[in-house]
Amino acid sequence: MPAPLAIIPWPRSVDARDGELLLPRGARAEIRGGGGDPLLARTAERLAEVLPSGPRAHEASIVIEVAPDGRADPESYTVEVTRDLGRVRAASPRGAFYGAETLAQLVEPAPDGSRVPAVRIEDAPRFRWRGLHLDVGRHWMPVASIERWIDAIARFKLNTFHWHLTEDQGWRLEIRRYPRLVEIGSKRKETIVGHARRGPKGYDGVPYAGHYTPDEARHVVAYARERGVTVVPEIEMPGHSLAALAAYPELACRPGPFEVRTTWGISEEVYCPKEQTFEFLENVLREVMAIFPSRYIHIGGDEAPKTRWRECRIAQDLIAREGLRDEDELQSWFIRRIERFLAANGRRLVGWDEILEGGLAPNATVMSWRGTAGGIVAARAGHDVVMCPQEDLYFDHYQGPVESEPLAIGGMTTLDDVYRYEPVPAELTDAEAAHVLGAQGQLWTEYMRTPEHVEYMAFPRAIALAEIVWSPREARDPAGFRARLPRALAELDRLGIRYRRPEDL
Ligand code: ACM
Repeated sequence: MPAPLAIIPWPRSVDARDGELLLPRGARAEIRGGGGDPLLARTAERLAEVLPSGPRAHEASIVIEVAPDGRADPESYTVEVTRDLGRVRAASPRGAFYGAETLAQLVEPAPDGSRVPAVRIEDAPRFRWRGLHLDVGRHWMPVASIERWIDAIARFKLNTFHWHLTEDQGWRLEIRRYPRLVEIGSKRKETIVGHARRGPKGYDGVPYAGHYTPDEARHVVAYARERGVTVVPEIEMPGHSLAALAAYPELACRPGPFEVRTTWGISEEVYCPKEQTFEFLENVLREVMAIFPSRYIHIGGDEAPKTRWRECRIAQDLIAREGLRDEDELQSWFIRRIERFLAANGRRLVGWDEILEGGLAPNATVMSWRGTAGGIVAARAGHDVVMCPQEDLYFDHYQGPVESEPLAIGGMTTLDDVYRYEPVPAELTDAEAAHVLGAQGQLWTEYMRTPEHVEYMAFPRAIALAEIVWSPREARDPAGFRARLPRALAELDRLGIRYRRPEDL
């Protein structure tokens, strides 16, 4: 009988064979090819974690081969385990990294070392964008925690970390040209206590601050890169920008002063569409692009009230001059202008689905969060989309009985709900569905003050997400996922992640 294979995400094809590879103490892995890519150094480290320690054996028990072999997908790989050897073959370091991870998940303790069941696995991801988002605007999170989460998600083959860096409640990335973004924008005088929309409101009276230096952000980028994860930065505009306006009130439609927001919810204050604002945003984005090599730059675009623009002479003159119909078209004009700037710098714009209102910028990628409607419209118009619907993939929602869970923003999205989610809306044709790049889980942190709480909300829901974005649709198997989950949870234990243990495990 083959041992149970507790791989998450489940591979495209798994052919369990008879027998097993015994890994004696001191068993060694060898990497061939790949040109010293940092992903391979990490791959070697990962294997060293699971190989039984001892004086190093002469012969390698595991061989990782990286060589171009005509494979189209750089994330694909093959694993073949026989009685003699464990072999991973891939055309790129990313494929090798994933193949080694799959192999690592197969290693079991044995009396005199470890063993791996004989198997042949062919694997490649279903989707290219397999993401987890984190809002550090509402609550700043330490670099070490962020890196621990990146390490964890990479083990389940998620490949995108969407870092939401600016908010009404705090600007978190140091921008050298605009020091007040940190001096003023990264601090708030206090924070609301309890739920912002329910019960009596009070404030804690405790000043709150936190930001990342460019070097710290670069550290996160490099750490992620070694694990096949791209960091996509988000700089919000035109809304969710009150912290920036507190620092630079001249970028608003009306005279300040403004204060960094101390409660949750949406601020009416947005950037004024004046030249000075674009100069500011372009300078900010230049520094952002210098830190983040990601092809995609997220510019937010969600929840931007139009109240101020309706009352603003500059905004109204611009609407008249550009022949725009209304403030929605002005937001579109704003986003298109930023898109041109990003494109001129070789980057692509991604934004929340409000960027559809008033007309989508030509090459924009849309994150569909208000359900799937935005994703459907965008895909039908030939735009790429990432599915992030709040009902299914907002990990700030409750995940169990409200009475026994810590305070959350609302909603209810259990682990099973996440696992049931299908990223391709049934309404799309195959050609339209090709625009669905993937899906992403969201961690908005209004009600998560600590890394521990983020971990509780993120895991294991992020592991269910990992399987739905990697594994073939036909392989979806709730009972099988449950059966494989304990091993994944043990891995989270080893990483020191304080996840929410499912009731039945
Ligand atoms: C969002 O949840 N405002 C994208």
